[in-house]
Amino acid sequence: MNIVRLRKASSKDKAIVVGFYNSIEQEEPFSLKREKKIANAILDEACFIILANRKAIGFVIFDYRFFDQGWIELIILDEAYRGKGIGGKVFDLLGEQCKAGKLFTSTNRSNTRMQKALAKAGFSFAGQLTGLDEGDPELFYYRLIKEENQSTEQS
Ligand SMILES: CC(C)(COP(=O)(O)OP(=O)(O)OC[C@H]1O[C@@H](n2cnc3c(N)ncnc32)[C@H](O)[C@@H]1OP(=O)(O)O)[C@@H](O)C(=O)NCCC(=O)NCCS
Repeated sequence: MNIVRLRKASSKDKAIVVGFYNSIEQEEPFSLKREKKIANAILDEACFIILANRKAIGFVIFDYRFFDQGWIELIILDEAYRGKGIGGKVFDLLGEQCKAGKLFTSTNRSNTRMQKALAKAGFSFAGQLTGLDEGDPELFYYRLIKEENQSTEQS
């Protein structure tokens, strides 16, 4: 069984995070834009390394920039660790640390694995947005956060 934890990423983690990111964007493996996005997320303390039994197996970017609600911008697991329920555990951990009333995220309609993982983790469908990726709408999901977790000061 995998014990899943999150650790806030530091600048030393940038290369490993970029490596996970590049693994899903194979058409253009070395993108400066991607590196900058990761570097900014680390600086903003919004990037978390996903650990399974203490081994780094992916990352998640989580912050409050979406209407002041919890927002999962991106989650990527190493291929070998997908389909084992780890994504759901990460959503639970983010739900525990989320200080807002709701936790939102989105994914393309073509990403059925992410949609299944979200449904299993208790997320509800919030609606879809067209016009971002041609022919592949962005589906939004949210989950309510327990009242005792919420705080007026977000971290
Ligand atoms: C999306 C992701 C975070 C989900 O986490 P996960 O731990 O793999 O999710 P789960 O193990 O809970 O699997 C979710 C469901 O997808 C199913 N699944 C597995 N492989 C699949 C595939 N290739 N296509 C569709 N569904 C698949 C699983 O069977 C499971 O459903 P089930 O429990 O009903 O059988 C992870 O797969 C990942 O990092 N994918 C690549 C990056 C990505 O797409 N990130 C999301 C960007 S918005």
